[in-house]
Amino acid sequence: MTVHIKTAEEIEKMRVAGRLAAEVLEMIAEHVRPGVSTNELDAICHDYIVNIQQAIPAPLNYRGFPKSICTSVNHQVCHGIPSDKKLKNGDIINIDITVIKDGYHGDTSKMFCIGQPSVLAQRVVRISHECLWKGIELARPGTRLGDIGHAIQTHAEANNCSVVREYCGHGIGRQFHEDPQVLHYGKPGTGLLLEPGMTFTIEPMINAGRRQVKLLKDGWTVVTKDHSLSAQWEHTLLITDDGCEVLTLRSEERV
Ligand code: MF3
Ligand code: CO
Ligand code: CO
Repeated sequence: MTVHIKTAEEIEKMRVAGRLAAEVLEMIAEHVRPGVSTNELDAICHDYIVNIQQAIPAPLNYRGFPKSICTSVNHQVCHGIPSDKKLKNGDIINIDITVIKDGYHGDTSKMFCIGQPSVLAQRVVRISHECLWKGIELARPGTRLGDIGHAIQTHAEANNCSVVREYCGHGIGRQFHEDPQVLHYGKPGTGLLLEPGMTFTIEPMINAGRRQVKLLKDGWTVVTKDHSLSAQWEHTLLITDDGCEVLTLRSEERV
């Protein structure tokens, strides 16, 4: 395992990439409404990233992924492929944006509610968001990755939700997915010791039902085996001397 500690110059580029990824999520919000197709959302994001940001949508052609963003609806866990299917009242959707700017990646996702989702749907959206932030609050030098995974798992399971094991957060930088793997479950006091200059994502996938998932025949879309709802939120973080900087923070999250 090789965990890259970023230099000051690299950190500045990671800040730019992170900000651009966050701005795509801010830009797309007003378009995420009943009747819009996920292909339309993909096209809007693609054009914005390429033409306005002069950046690269990292998913496009990544290991053969056919679109510029991932859109995972309801029981889809992650890596949903945009299609002509339209969003409808009551849906929950994760939109996952990764941009490359000046050779560096910024990766972030959030949940959107379409109209008025069920109480259960709203609940898994809220619990998964709380899980992300429980992880972020622990991200500082001296913390181990197992501490973060444990905090996320404990919160999810205390609320009758489950943590997907097959996919995890990841180091990020020049590469989309670098070491370390950031598991969303684990034991306190175990795993990699965090140090200033590390950049990685936390991106818990939390199911309202059982944790098991399956991969669809399209080779990408991951769904819950029991068809229960799933929700995910993601940020890219930088470990600083005394805590962390959320490189993909949106305006709505700033206090
Ligand atoms: N953005 C996802 C992540 O958080 C990865 C998507 S890979 C793709 O790691 F090929 F599906 F885009
Ligand atoms: Co990621
Ligand atoms: Co992502």
